Amino acid sequence: MQIIVKNVSYRYDQNGYEKSNWILHQVNVTIPSHSFVSIVGHTGSGKSTLAKLIKGLILPSAGRIDISEQEKSHCNDKANIHNKVGLVFQYPEHQLFEMTVLDDIAFGPKQLGWSMETISEKTEQVTKALGLKRETLNQSPFHLSGGEKRKAALAGVMVMDPEVLILDEPAAGLDPVSRRNLMQLIESWRKTARKTVILITHHMDDALAYSDEIIVMNKGKVLYQLSPNQLFLEHEDELIKMDLDIPDQVKLLNKLNRRLAKSIKVDSLKEEHIFEKIAEYYKKNEVTYDS
Ligand SMILES: Nc1ncnc2c1ncn2[C@@H]1O[C@H](COP(=O)(O)OP(=O)(O)OP(=O)(O)O)[C@@H](O)[C@H]1O
Ligand SMILES: [Mg+2]
Repeated sequence: MQIIVKNVSYRYDQNGYEKSNWILHQVNVTIPSHSFVSIVGHTGSGKSTLAKLIKGLILPSAGRIDISEQEKSHCNDKANIHNKVGLVFQYPEHQLFEMTVLDDIAFGPKQLGWSMETISEKTEQVTKALGLKRETLNQSPFHLSGGEKRKAALAGVMVMDPEVLILDEPAAGLDPVSRRNLMQLIESWRKTARKTVILITHHMDDALAYSDEIIVMNKGKVLYQLSPNQLFLEHEDELIKMDLDIPDQVKLLNKLNRRLAKSIKVDSLKEEHIFEKIAEYYKKNEVTYDS
């Protein structure tokens, strides 16, 4: 499913007649089908607001959002199209409330009147994809670890089989290993099920590692929508000015390239690739070090 956000502005209706300032201002972004797109930006820049607009929880004050299935655009069910977008809020485990994990996962599908057979089949698929143990399903969600709770909450959205999954800070508060593990599970689910993922994150490492494109927001506006390579290699200074983190290997590469007569060209910004290219360069140019 493709999402096109066209000239969208948004402000909150505060008490019926008074409006807040513009929270989003003339935002234009395109999220292609089956892509992995990250949204980064300072706190308060409007990332979660944009997510709620795409999910259809709030409506644009101006502009429009088109969500369409590229493959069969002539038979769009406009009323239900937002149902194909799953939104996992930040700290989603705060929304777990049923007696067992299974009941929690099944809550949404039951509301939609799915048969028990379909519910258990889909539950089996997502819990497996997320690596949630079978015995967890009959436990109270409140007895799980932080990482397991997060997965249980994610499963409750993924079970609805959304075409587009928006994750608002899915790794917030998780330790580095759980974070990497969760991100890899999401990415492998996206690839096998051919889904679209929109990741809102403060972790620039994750944005770099998984995204086809990164959207940078600042004060309610979209500054860039670029590939990780273009963004980090060509706009490092602007990102630093906005106090956004630059992954270490990119900082190293950019620093070296500013000093070298002939810069080191890379195809990807993954750590191993950059280190390999730096080593290759030094070997080829017979650069030696003073001890
Ligand atoms: N219900 C509301 N009424 C008025 N203003 C709001 C409301 N919810 C959010 N805002 C304001 O909208 C702006 C954007 O908020 P939003 O939650 O979209 O930012 P964000 O980029 O997701 O930030 P963070 O990284 O901290 O999650 C903030 O200035 C916030 O104070
Ligand atoms: Mg937010």
